[in-house]
Amino acid sequence: MRSLTKFTVVVVALSGVWTSAVADGRYSQSPHGSSMTGVLRSSDYPRGSCAQCHKGHDGGNAYPFGLFQENSNRLCFSQSMGGCHADRPAGATSGYPAQESDRMPLGSSDPGYFEFNSGGVRVPGPHNLVRWPGQIIWENTAFSSHYSDPDMPLKDALGFGSCDNCHDVHGGSALHDMLDTTYSGIVGSQTGFTTDNYLLCFTCHSVNGPVGMDESSRYIADYYDRSVNPGTRTGHGLSHGGSFVPSGARLPCYDCHNPHGSEGYNGQGSNDYLLSDQRPGWYGLTNIKEDNIQVRRFCFGCHPSSDRQGGGTVEGINPRPLPSEIPDHSFNGARHCYDCHGRDYSGPSANNVHNPSEGED
Ligand code: HEC
Ligand code: HEC
Ligand code: HEC
Ligand code: HEC
Ligand code: HEC
Ligand code: HEC
Repeated sequence: MRSLTKFTVVVVALSGVWTSAVADGRYSQSPHGSSMTGVLRSSDYPRGSCAQCHKGHDGGNAYPFGLFQENSNRLCFSQSMGGCHADRPAGATSGYPAQESDRMPLGSSDPGYFEFNSGGVRVPGPHNLVRWPGQIIWENTAFSSHYSDPDMPLKDALGFGSCDNCHDVHGGSALHDMLDTTYSGIVGSQTGFTTDNYLLCFTCHSVNGPVGMDESSRYIADYYDRSVNPGTRTGHGLSHGGSFVPSGARLPCYDCHNPHGSEGYNGQGSNDYLLSDQRPGWYGLTNIKEDNIQVRRFCFGCHPSSDRQGGGTVEGINPRPLPSEIPDHSFNGARHCYDCHGRDYSGPSANNVHNPSEGED
């Protein structure tokens, strides 16, 4: 109780700088703030209470904001009590990687979004996370650019890309995953020129992105924008609707990427470009732009070949087999998909997987 009182003093002292998450109730409704399933690092304080992280200045600790640990990514990996967000199985996410069956169903708040759920209601608790891969994957500097790239705008106390670049530890304004900017399912993206539902990524992956970011990373928003690139293929466009997918929608980033990194399907080797690892064949993709075998392992994760091998359900639909008049559309075809559909990131209207061309030779 004594430290709680001291903490109140800390909060009052800082209330001028603090955002409105508590005032508008976001914290208490966030996964961290829940009194049933929220943060439980120490049994000294009630579950979900502020003191789980802000223990005040008792015990001689004087970290900024009275935090129990320095404000680095590692704070999220605290091993005490529940293990919080460290590694499987002790830390979290025994449900990783997400499967098609983890998508929120039709009629739910956000059909198609990945969230371990029961009949369209999110099942809380760190053990039920399906998209957070754990500390070891996040801290793999070779394949985790949001952690290791020096151009990440917010750095943690150790100089690495901070979770705060995308999340708000006190409950973000976005619908899901304590994200601080909108990132939601495919429904809604069929209208408008830009796709506001992927705004989280476009705050950085657009021409207004952070200082120092590679040119090629800045045009992604344009590849999704039909005022820049008119046509049905913009944003890996879907022209045949069904299930979660309205015709004209653009494929969500999370169907191909995991912003936290990967370990490869079944742990068979991490992927470059933050490609996710939920489908067979999605492992060891270290040279996808040039290697014909790698690109096929990736594309055939969703598209069945013209000779009907591979393929998989995505957003509740089964893409049609590739047209057979192109010999390279067969499973073992000789030419790289990008030779005809594009691998160019040199400008806002270039053709690549985010804005594939019709198939020019
Ligand atoms: C899961 C851990 C955690 C919990 C629980 C938590 N905080 Fe924080 N808090 C942080 C971290 C980490 C920071 C450091 C700044 C940041 O990352 O936003 C912080 C910063 C702050 C600050 C400093 C100013 C600011 O705007 O960031 C205040 C004030 C604050 N928290 C108040 C609270 C209150 C009030 C509660 C309970 C309603 C609470 N916190 C619950 C982790 C937590
Ligand atoms: C570049 C943006 C970004 C950064 C940085 C980031 N995340 Fe995430 N995180 C996301 C997105 C986007 C999701 C939503 C899941 C998805 O992609 O489907 C998410 C989801 C999560 C989830 C919920 C997963 C689930 O299955 O419900 C956890 C837990 C999480 N992140 C933890 C972290 C931690 C801890 C850090 C820092 C060590 C971090 N994230 C850094 C973007 C980010
Ligand atoms: C706060 C800024 C920020 C946000 C938000 C952000 N990114 Fe990034 N992202 C970066 C930076 C910086 C890099 C490093 C590459 C560079 O400097 O060009 C990067 C790199 C990438 C890469 C390339 C990785 C590689 O190895 O080359 C992918 C893919 C990516 N981001 C996807 C996403 C997705 C998907 C989202 C949304 C869930 C997202 N990013 C949100 C800043 C951001
Ligand atoms: C259909 C799968 C797919 C979707 C959907 C997708 N990407 Fe990608 N993305 C890739 C692949 C594959 C690469 C690796 C480069 C390549 O093969 O052209 C990549 C590369 C990138 C890069 C690095 C580009 C570079 O060379 O610097 C960024 C940044 C990126 N994606 C962001 C996003 C964002 C943001 C979204 C959602 C708005 C998204 N991607 C949606 C497959 C996808
Ligand atoms: C996550 C699943 C997924 C992955 C991975 C994927 N695609 Fe797609 N792609 C789709 C879906 C779904 C459509 C829409 C199909 C439709 O509307 O019938 C599509 C559409 C396309 C189109 C446009 C079709 C048209 O309407 O003209 C092209 C071209 C394409 N994909 C090429 C590729 C290539 C090349 C790769 C590998 C680099 C790839 N895709 C990887 C799911 C995926
Ligand atoms: C030699 C050039 C070439 C190569 C290599 C190639 N394609 Fe195509 N692709 C085309 C052409 C041309 C079309 C349009 C055919 C049509 O409309 O009937 C097409 C159409 C498609 C479509 C749209 C299908 C639809 O239902 O409308 C997809 C998806 C696709 N290709 C994916 C791929 C993938 C994945 C690879 C690699 C495994 C690949 N392509 C390799 C030339 C190529």
